[in-house]
Amino acid sequence: MIGKLILSIESSCDETSAAVVKNGREVLSNVIASQIDTHKKFGGVVPEVASRMHIEAVDGVVKEALLEANVTLDEIDAIGVTYGPGLVGALLVGLQYAKGLAFASKKPLIGVNHIEGHICANYIQHKDLEPPFVSLVVSGGHTFIVHVKDYGVFEVLGQTRDDAAGEAYDKVARAIGLGYPGGPKIDKLAKEGNPMALNFPRANFHEDTLDFSFSGLKSSVLNYLNKAKMQDIEINKADVAASFQRAVVDVLKDNVFLTCEKKNLKKIAIAGGVASNSALREALIAEGNKKGIEILFPEPILCTDNAAMIGSAAYFELIHNKKYSFDLNAKPNLKLGER
Ligand code: KG4
Ligand code: ZN
Repeated sequence: MIGKLILSIESSCDETSAAVVKNGREVLSNVIASQIDTHKKFGGVVPEVASRMHIEAVDGVVKEALLEANVTLDEIDAIGVTYGPGLVGALLVGLQYAKGLAFASKKPLIGVNHIEGHICANYIQHKDLEPPFVSLVVSGGHTFIVHVKDYGVFEVLGQTRDDAAGEAYDKVARAIGLGYPGGPKIDKLAKEGNPMALNFPRANFHEDTLDFSFSGLKSSVLNYLNKAKMQDIEINKADVAASFQRAVVDVLKDNVFLTCEKKNLKKIAIAGGVASNSALREALIAEGNKKGIEILFPEPILCTDNAAMIGSAAYFELIHNKKYSFDLNAKPNLKLGER
């Protein structure tokens, strides 16, 4: 086959995924085994359970990815794998499997940063997208504003100082009894509510920063719910969801457009699980239209954790000659741009 084929593996949290990606942009297969139904019962991801489920799933998922792509291991040019950030036990499963496979088949091993993978999902969705651009990465564990200067070259300009955006969604959803994962449920319920009904506070830093904070907002929603419960006042869940969401979206929008202004960039690519959020997408598109800034996002299956995005990131590492050895270890706190 003409072009570079990457077999990629992702196991940083609660999805075991394997994919075959051609030239970093074309997905030949993207198999995802989600553990959500198991973790739901516990109200969140249980790390020990996640590791064990990855062990059970990884071999079948990789075989299915090759089968679906209609390629053999022989035809693969390199093996890409997430080595951080994430749950250490979960990461080790994918990493050890990838090392074994790469060693046995004599293919290069490429370590991928999970967050960089999320950003690269945009290269798959938008075939002409090239750096530089601004990326807003919003997931269950991370909230970053990133200046993507070139392929594999990232500068973090803003980040959360406490909770991630998705984490705030999940915690608020749990408090109003919506279950896990809460983001999509708040997104849906908020459509029936009035976003102006309640005024939850936004974090206010007394300094020039593009950083975020969501824990104060989350606490103020929880306080509101507790007070209502103590006073036996019935709450309107849809109004709470819509008002909370307005606060999150406002802050994300303000900071990301400020970044474009500061860096004189005209493109924003959103990434991560929360990039599926309909209110966020609508707000960014509306503001983008006003300001002449293009807003890009991947389709929902590429926003959530998946191996295709890891395959895209691995391809750009491969063609830029980045080398990874077999002593590569899992790095649960791997920073964006760190190798
Ligand atoms: O990127 P992801 O699949 O996993 C991590 O790397 O964290 O993101 C999962 C997060 C969860 O917090 C989930 O509630 C949130 O993304 N999420 C959403 C939506 N879909 C998923 N948050 C808001 N609105 C959505 N539609
Ligand atoms: Zn993720």
